[in-house]
Amino acid sequence: MKSLIFKKDGLHRLSASYIPERLPSREEHQLEIFNTVIGFLEGRLPLKAIVLNGPSGSGKTVTVKKASEQVLKYCGQRNIKLEYRHLNTRFASSDFTLSQMIALSLMPNIPGRGYSSRELLFTVFDYLEKTGRSFLLVLDDFDSFLSGVRSRFFTDLLKISEEYEERVKLILILIGIDDVSSKVKDSWATSFFWRIGRIFKPYSAEEISVILKDRVELSFNENTVDDSLIYLMGRLTERFGYGSARYGIELLLASGLNASYEGSARVSSEHVREAQYRIESVISPADLKTVFSQDPGMRRLVEMLIRIFESCEEPFVGFKTLEEHGVRTRDSGVVEKLKRLHFEGLLDYNPSRREIALIGMPLRLLRQAFD
Ligand SMILES: Nc1ncnc2c1ncn2[C@@H]1O[C@H](COP(=O)(O)OP(=O)(O)O)[C@@H](O)[C@H]1O
Ligand SMILES: [Mg+2]
Repeated sequence: MKSLIFKKDGLHRLSASYIPERLPSREEHQLEIFNTVIGFLEGRLPLKAIVLNGPSGSGKTVTVKKASEQVLKYCGQRNIKLEYRHLNTRFASSDFTLSQMIALSLMPNIPGRGYSSRELLFTVFDYLEKTGRSFLLVLDDFDSFLSGVRSRFFTDLLKISEEYEERVKLILILIGIDDVSSKVKDSWATSFFWRIGRIFKPYSAEEISVILKDRVELSFNENTVDDSLIYLMGRLTERFGYGSARYGIELLLASGLNASYEGSARVSSEHVREAQYRIESVISPADLKTVFSQDPGMRRLVEMLIRIFESCEEPFVGFKTLEEHGVRTRDSGVVEKLKRLHFEGLLDYNPSRREIALIGMPLRLLRQAFD
């Protein structure tokens, strides 16, 4: 059946492997990485290993991939011979498996057995020397590799790289959630790190909204997702997804699928709440019952809010509308209750924008708290 919600081929643009055309909030990071790599390649900067770190979903992997694409293009135009590999090292269980991964990525026919880790690395450099190519090697999730094994890998790699100094250029990019350079014990090696100046920090609600807007344009039919709903997803991502773009995109995908399964023509706040609840239930009907038993006033307030939100399409309701429906947003007792519901994860209470949204669970579940 044709989806009313998603464009043809739209779903794949919401997948983890999709690399978007634009990286809002990360353009400067991309440029810095690009300039640094080119600086190394062209000998304007002393060769070092680029390290960058930041929380999950802050765009490290995708930014490095975009910068690398840009480097490849630059080299292609200037006839600079470059090999490029981006390897996830998370599941490499030893120095040997990591060296093997690198060797196999360049030479798929290399025998799997009979070499040591160091020998494999020498083979890699021999290959690069023979083909006259530089090597841009990205080791992703490298901090988890370093914490899993007692590794000599990095020191070995640098020592071997030094032996080939004039002949083979190795440009390393090391990515981690934690600072990779603090995990390398060898103090001699730590002087080889080049830290990227721009930091990868959690995205704010506004930044997530811009990122998601692009994805909506790429993947969704026109007029299926309102901007206010995108902003709601941004808020949820900031508050419950630690500002991870991965969380935001997952929420967008799950909300769209909910709408699609129902055969509806638009994504609604209820679809988003349903998706949020499925990804992670911050609050359940049982939790809410406990809150009500402690404070009967809370029960009346939530009842009023349900009625207001049922009768309106918008995900956010302004304080003015709340007032019109009898919720006294200037009464300190009511404010306390709204804050408590925010804290519990049932509301997004935003005094600076003077609005609230009902979140945490779909209305169909919320009603169960009144049974
Ligand atoms: N600035 C951005 N613009 C568009 N998409 C982004 C941006 N940052 C992250 N993403 C997307 O979010 C997801 C997680 O990003 P990723 O680079 O894997 O994060 P990290 O490596 O820091 O955990 C990916 O699907 C990625 O394409
Ligand atoms: Mg990553």
